[in-house]
Amino acid sequence: MSEIRHLIDILDLSVEEIDALIALGERIMDDPAAYADKCRGKIMATLFFEPSTRTRLSFESAMLSLGGSVLGFSAAANSSAAKGESVADTIRTVSAYSDIIAMRHPKEGAPLVAAAKATVPVINGGDGGHNHPTQTLTDLLTIQRRKGRLHDLTVGFCGDLKFGRTVHSLINALARYQGIKFVLIAPEELKVPSYVKKDVIQKNGLPYEQTTDLEAVMPELDILYMTRVQRERFFNEEDYLRLKDSYILTPDKLRGAKSDMTILHPLPRVNEISTAVDDDPRAGYFEQVRCGRFIRMALILKLLNIAE
Ligand code: NCD
Repeated sequence: MSEIRHLIDILDLSVEEIDALIALGERIMDDPAAYADKCRGKIMATLFFEPSTRTRLSFESAMLSLGGSVLGFSAAANSSAAKGESVADTIRTVSAYSDIIAMRHPKEGAPLVAAAKATVPVINGGDGGHNHPTQTLTDLLTIQRRKGRLHDLTVGFCGDLKFGRTVHSLINALARYQGIKFVLIAPEELKVPSYVKKDVIQKNGLPYEQTTDLEAVMPELDILYMTRVQRERFFNEEDYLRLKDSYILTPDKLRGAKSDMTILHPLPRVNEISTAVDDDPRAGYFEQVRCGRFIRMALILKLLNIAE
């Protein structure tokens, strides 16, 4: 039997593998009917110990679109975790019921623990404020489709760069492409953690700028990646309330932006992008949602070793 592959961190995939997944995602998008039976008889379990709309439903939609089936739970309260069962025991159990597992957990590292116990591939659908590799694949497919490349881009990240796990994973992924410059836009308290800034950006000698002023850097950006302030990861509500509206993107603030900039957001959005921006051709966040389903179809095929 070949070794089981998991996706816990975006670095579990080589750049070549990421490029191949993006290419496969695009082929599936062009002809979904050709893939409609690829996972017939296979079962995906989605174990979500933390709330989700897009990630869980896009995994389920992806598996169903491949002809497979899905089972799972959408809140820890609906599982034996509520009785005190460990992640390790839950995963051993679910390995017996499914061919592949997608999980989300509020604790950093929980999917890694799960992968060590699982007898089927485990996909990290978000672990605390740490990583979110399938959102990154989604983001990369969207960038590829809108910009035609994953290299030579100035990418601005704005909002909660401390707790925003999608930001950490996307920085890790883009750091491996040529000609990427990062512009990190956040209030002092929500700056990227040092394990990202020092160990990824500085260690690789990548150009970056840190600022609190979104409008000042707007004209430079090819991509603007907006994020929500992660209320559930704050230690106190007061700090959240003070910081939650630090950045609100409006049509007015976009005046200095390039005409072909792309605005991304992993969603859910709270206040950080005014709905008046939704009709701007630069708004890419709903296309991003669509990409999420197709890139997850590509990932499921890869991890299950199903030939195209
Ligand atoms: C993100 C997440 O869960 O980290 N959402 C998503 O998966 N699309 C972003 C967020 O919750 O703010």
